Amino acid sequence: MADRILITGGAGFVGLHLARRLLRDGAEVTLLDDLSRGRLDRDVDEILSQARMVRHDLTRPVPADLLAGDFDEVYHLAAVVGVQQNNENPARALNVNLRAVLNVLDWCRRRPPGRVYLSSTSEVADGATRLGLTPFPVGEDVPFALPDPTMPRASYGLSKIVAETLLRQSADLFLVRIGRYHNIYGPRMGHDHVIPHFVARALARQDPFPIYGATQSRAFCHVDDAVDATICLTRLPGRDPIVANIGNDTEEIVIRDLAERITQLAGYTPSFEVFDPPSGSPDRRLPDLGRLRRMTGYTPRVELAAGLRQTFDWYARDRATVVAAAPGDRA
Ligand SMILES: NC(=O)c1ccc[n+]([C@@H]2O[C@H](COP(=O)([O-])OP(=O)(O)OC[C@H]3O[C@@H](n4cnc5c(N)ncnc54)[C@H](O)[C@@H]3O)[C@@H](O)[C@H]2O)c1
Repeated sequence: MADRILITGGAGFVGLHLARRLLRDGAEVTLLDDLSRGRLDRDVDEILSQARMVRHDLTRPVPADLLAGDFDEVYHLAAVVGVQQNNENPARALNVNLRAVLNVLDWCRRRPPGRVYLSSTSEVADGATRLGLTPFPVGEDVPFALPDPTMPRASYGLSKIVAETLLRQSADLFLVRIGRYHNIYGPRMGHDHVIPHFVARALARQDPFPIYGATQSRAFCHVDDAVDATICLTRLPGRDPIVANIGNDTEEIVIRDLAERITQLAGYTPSFEVFDPPSGSPDRRLPDLGRLRRMTGYTPRVELAAGLRQTFDWYARDRATVVAAAPGDRA
């Protein structure tokens, strides 16, 4: 019998790529989303002949009759994501993300699935890196720290710290797997990240081309690699909860170089206008993937050049939906 799988946030960026992959592998997939950010676009349309879509706002309890039957795996991805959303309304990120994980866990307690995966974030370790409590690359066993709770983006990281803690405390009921995503990119990633910002500017042939935080560095991970890692991590044997970083540590890049690569893809050479990074944005982000490699045999396969080309081409085709890039690049 096919695995029955629930993906919350299934109409979002990572959720839809994950759904496609699981459907290809023959699973029976249900997507749950309130469409607050995910969209019913042609990509969702394409998979709706094979997957079920349930519209529900997870800030409200999951009604008993909403999801029939038992699930082998639940991937909890639904969250308020993105620095712009968090900066504009930090209270919303904390509220929605906490209520959503509490309601998912309540439902899981009533109908325990085999395994529950939580999508966490590199940002749970940002406090420890800022305080110099950990070297680079950053591993999983760093202390949770909140050096400046007044910073708007602290809400998002805090919501994931609490979600991780709540999930680990449920490990007597189902297998618990937590993946901390580090700068995932790819087609249909929305418009609130540095890569789509640069693509939008490059497609508009902006010159001068603004860059916020030109000397910061990131290690970007293609969504296909992130999806592979997510599934492998979720399916690891063993009763103990597992937390692992998910990313690509092979091609760290400075943001100015990223801008050069993307403008090259657009076929022009603008002058760059450099501004301060957005407030609270870390200078460097690089995951230690040792645990993921050891436990799953993970190797990232998509090289940055190929992934950027594919992502650029996708946005170029989807240009009608590309919005004017907001000031401040978010990574
Ligand atoms: N993309 C990244 O680089 C990255 C990095 C770190 C962590 N993450 C985590 O991965 C997960 C997926 O991120 P993404 O980039 O696909 O984001 P996304 O915004 O594209 O997807 C999130 C989905 O959750 C849905 N959602 C939001 N609130 C909801 C609610 N109350 N009820 C039901 N659905 C709701 C949205 O409509 C959206 O479709 C998130 O949990 C995010 O925190 C992503």
